[in-house]
Amino acid sequence: MPESAHALDGRVAVVTGAARGIGRATAEALVAAGSSVIVTSRDGDVAQRAAKEIGAVEGLALDVTDPGQVGAVFRTIVSGHGRIDALVANAGVLENAPIGMIKPDLVARMLDTNVAGTISTVQAAARVMLRKKGGSIVLLASILGERGSAGQTAYAASKAAVAAIARSAAKELGPRGIRVNAVAPGLIDTDLIRDLPAELIEQRVADTALRRLGRPEDVARVIRFLLSDDAAFVTGQVLGVDGGLVL
Ligand code: NAI
Repeated sequence: MPESAHALDGRVAVVTGAARGIGRATAEALVAAGSSVIVTSRDGDVAQRAAKEIGAVEGLALDVTDPGQVGAVFRTIVSGHGRIDALVANAGVLENAPIGMIKPDLVARMLDTNVAGTISTVQAAARVMLRKKGGSIVLLASILGERGSAGQTAYAASKAAVAAIARSAAKELGPRGIRVNAVAPGLIDTDLIRDLPAELIEQRVADTALRRLGRPEDVARVIRFLLSDDAAFVTGQVLGVDGGLVL
């Protein structure tokens, strides 16, 4: 295999929610693979700072729950960089509540960001990619969306929907040369899991074959592979990155 395995030389890649956690690690991995990366985050200053720190070409404000902003930001990227080859729809939120405590606004928050936000960004990227008949998209699902989790019903439902988006978009966009896959991480050590009880985290690690939490880089490297030509015949897949976590 050549040195350039998983290379993304010169590709224009957009990562949402990329100022920290898995998004930031992914942006860094894509920069290292030769991509021109656009870091996006709800806060424009934060996005610009992160972009500078990791050597991305640009940092832009983007709240994925605002479809008008999503469209405008993708048009800005195309006018500045000519095209978009890769999208990582990473932005996501997690709130836990037992079934009896789930309020409608919690459900709305999960669905607005994790589902509607993912669809908006896929739509905006696809519009650009269709013009040049090619591109690759990776979404962030979760093992919880496949297996379910007590106290995380709304989040798990939203992530099951993300897997469905990947499979559906792969079918619709495949004939036009666009691949769509998702990763389904297990428990990854980021700010997202800060509020989980320590006992739950310990239990999850004990249930993980590799007996550790995942690192953002573990997920980032798999996303980089899925975006690269090494995964040229892979689409509509939801790839577990969970260290062998059994729920
Ligand atoms: P994180 O909380 O560090 O990162 C999430 C990012 O999304 C943050 O930068 C946040 O500001 C951004 N974000 C939230 N709402 C947004 C919005 N409306 N518009 C734009 N950006 C927004 O957490 P982490 O772990 O890096 O999460 C990244 C993705 O991975 C999420 O989709 C999450 O659901 C998913 N995931 C994480 C797992 C974990 O154990 N950490 C496990 C499975 C999936």
